[in-house]
Amino acid sequence: MPTIEGTVDNKRQELKEKVYEINKIAALFYHEALYKPTSKLAQEYVKKRKLDNKTLKAYTIGYAENNSNLYKFLKTKGFTDEEILASDLVNKMGNNFVDRFRNRLIFPIQDVRNRYIAFGGRVLDDSLPKYINSPENIVYSKARNLYGLNIAKNSNLEKLLIVEGYMDVVSLHQRGIENVVASCGTALTEAQGRLLRKYAQKIIISYDSDAAGQAATLRGLEILNNLGCDIRILQMEGAKDPDEYVIKYGNGRFNNLIDKAISLIEFKVKVLKKDLNLENTNDKIKFLNEVAKLVSTVDNRIEQEIYIDKISMDYNISKEAIYAEINKLNYSKNQGKKTLESKFVRTVTKKKETIPEALIKRENIIIGLLLNGKEEVYEQIKNILSPEDFKSEQNKKIVKSLYEEFEKGNSNINNILEKFNEDEEIISIITGIMADDYEIKNDKKAIEDLIKNYQKERLLNRKKEIINSLNNVNLGLHESESLEKELQDIIIKLAQIK
Ligand code: GTP
Ligand code: MN
Repeated sequence: MPTIEGTVDNKRQELKEKVYEINKIAALFYHEALYKPTSKLAQEYVKKRKLDNKTLKAYTIGYAENNSNLYKFLKTKGFTDEEILASDLVNKMGNNFVDRFRNRLIFPIQDVRNRYIAFGGRVLDDSLPKYINSPENIVYSKARNLYGLNIAKNSNLEKLLIVEGYMDVVSLHQRGIENVVASCGTALTEAQGRLLRKYAQKIIISYDSDAAGQAATLRGLEILNNLGCDIRILQMEGAKDPDEYVIKYGNGRFNNLIDKAISLIEFKVKVLKKDLNLENTNDKIKFLNEVAKLVSTVDNRIEQEIYIDKISMDYNISKEAIYAEINKLNYSKNQGKKTLESKFVRTVTKKKETIPEALIKRENIIIGLLLNGKEEVYEQIKNILSPEDFKSEQNKKIVKSLYEEFEKGNSNINNILEKFNEDEEIISIITGIMADDYEIKNDKKAIEDLIKNYQKERLLNRKKEIINSLNNVNLGLHESESLEKELQDIIIKLAQIK
C-alpha cells in the first residue's frame, strides 16, 4: 500500500515531468518567435551580436515578446496553472498570469541529457537588469549545471573552456571553438567543478579580463585545484571577454591564447607581482619568499625546475635566489618551525581509495537504475545486492538511503538529495550519475546483465576459497567431500552463466 509520503513523491515526480515538458515547449515557442516578422528588434539585435542561424538553432536561442503569449500557449496545450507556475516561466500577479520573460533574448539552459531546465533572458539594449534568469525550482539547480555542456560534451574534450557568459559560449562555438561552457552567472561551485572534471582532462578558465572576472578566476581556481583538476588560465588583452576577443581578432588568435594559457603557479606569481615593485629590495624579498612557497607546493621536482626556470626568466631574477629561498623554507620546516602559510598553499585532497573503474561504473549503473525510481527494479536489485556489497563508501551510503526510501514506498530522488543536503561529495556523485546516461535503453536487460556479473563474481570468489581450503591438509574427509561437491556445482553454474 502506498504511504502518504509515497503519493506525495509520485506527485512531485509527475510535476517535474510536466515542467520539463513545459520548458521544452517554451524554448521552441521562443525560438520560433524570433523569426516572426514582428520580432524585428530582436532580429536586429542578434545580427548586431553577429549570431548566425546555425548558432541560434544549435542553442535554441529565442525571443520572448513583450506579452504573455507563452502562458496562453501553454494553456492551449492543456497544462494546469499549477504546472505552469512550477516552471517559473509565468508569474501570478493578483488574478493575472504574466510571462516572466518579456522583450528579452532567450538562452535556454539544458542539462547534459538535453532536457530544458531553465532560461536566461537578455535585454535588447543597455537597460538593467541585463539578464534575468530562472530561479531554482523543481527541475533546476543552478549550482549543478553548466550552460552549454550538453553541446560541448560532443566536442573534443581534451580541454574544456569555462567562460562567464552565455554570449561567450555561443560566440566561441560559432567560431569553431566548441569545447566551451559557462557557469550560468554564478561563481563556480564545487558541483560544477566535478562536472567539469568528469568531462575533461584539462580545464581552461577564460573569464572576463576585468577585476570582477579576475577575482572570479581566483575563486574558481581554488575550487578546481582542490578537486585535483589540471587547470590553465587564459590571459586576454585587448578585449573584455572571449566573445569580444574572438569577434575582434578571430579564432586563430583565440586558439593561440588557449595554447599559451598559463598554469596555476604562473597565474599566482603574476597576481603576486601585480602589487610589488621588484626594484624595491623589500618587495623583492617578499616576492622571492612567496614564489618559493608557491613552487614548493609542486610535488614533482622536474615540474618545479620548469617553473623556476620560467619565473626566473619572466621576472628577471636569478634561479639561485629562488633555490636559496626554497632551501631556507625546507630548513625551517625540518626544524619544526611553523612557516607562514601562503594564502595560496594548496589544500591537500584526500587520497582516493583505488577501486577499479569498471566496478565504479557498474555500481553507478545500479544507482542510476535505482534513481529512476521503479519499484520492480528495486525489488530485483535488492534480491542480489545489499548496500554492503558496494565497494565505495559513498555508494554504500547512497544505496542504503535509496533502499530505505524504497522500503518506505518513496521512489523520489529528491528525498535522497535532501537527506544528503550537507554532503557535497555525495550530492555531486548522485547528480553526476543522473547526468550520465550510461546508455541504459533497456532496464530489464541491464539488470539481467548485472545479476549475471555479480553471480559470476561471487561464484568465482567462492571457487577460489574452496580450492584454497581443499589444499589445506588438515581438512577432514567429510568436509573435503562436501567442498568438492560444492565446487562441482559452482563449475556447472559458471558454465551456464556464460
Ligand atoms: P553580454 O554582455 O551580452 O556580452 O553578455 P554575457 O553573456 O557576456 O554576460 P556577462 O559577461 O556580462 O555576464 C556573465 C553572466 O552573468 C551572464 O551570462 C549571466 O548569466 C550573468 N549575468 C550578467 N548580468 C546579469 C544580471 O544583471 N542579472 C543576473 N541575474 N545575471 C547576470
Ligand atoms: Mn559579453
